[in-house]
Amino acid sequence: MLKVGLIVIGFMGRGHLDNYIRLESEGFPVKLVAVCDIDPAKFENKFLPGNIDVGTKKYDFSKYKLYTNMDEMLEKEELDYVDICLPTYIHDEATASCGGQDACPLRRPLPHIYMLKLL
Ligand SMILES: NC(=O)c1ccc[n+]([C@@H]2O[C@H](COP(=O)([O-])OP(=O)(O)OC[C@H]3O[C@@H](n4cnc5c(N)ncnc54)[C@H](O)[C@@H]3O)[C@@H](O)[C@H]2O)c1
Repeated sequence: MLKVGLIVIGFMGRGHLDNYIRLESEGFPVKLVAVCDIDPAKFENKFLPGNIDVGTKKYDFSKYKLYTNMDEMLEKEELDYVDICLPTYIHDEATASCGGQDACPLRRPLPHIYMLKLL
């Protein structure tokens, strides 16, 4: 079972959250255990609209360990992967916090979103 930490639940992060919920419901060996966002209002389902209409779905965040500081999440959780959906300008800092190993760009043409394997 791969334990995942999702760094931020902005517009793209919510799309990733949807996919973790779906993967878990379909029995894939992946479990989202922790979610981080600097804005705690996100954990109360208070989202800003994105550039595509994704509806007003509510999430049950009580299932996850919640953090407003990514370094604290990385320190406290035993994660196999982190999924980084931060704004682009902070990707380098987040990658460095994660140790910088095995960064795999998931999105093209620009590597906006990364999954990092924590060794
Ligand atoms: N919106 C799109 O259609 C789209 C498509 C492909 C790729 N992307 C890329 O995805 C990435 C995220 O874009 P988005 O549209 O989801 O942005 P967004 O502004 O909707 O979400 C960013 C989230 O990051 C959080 N955040 C900001 N600074 C933080 C920090 N220091 N620590 C913790 N949380 C922090 C914010 O609270 C917010 O929830 C960008 O790199 C963007 O280029 C976006």
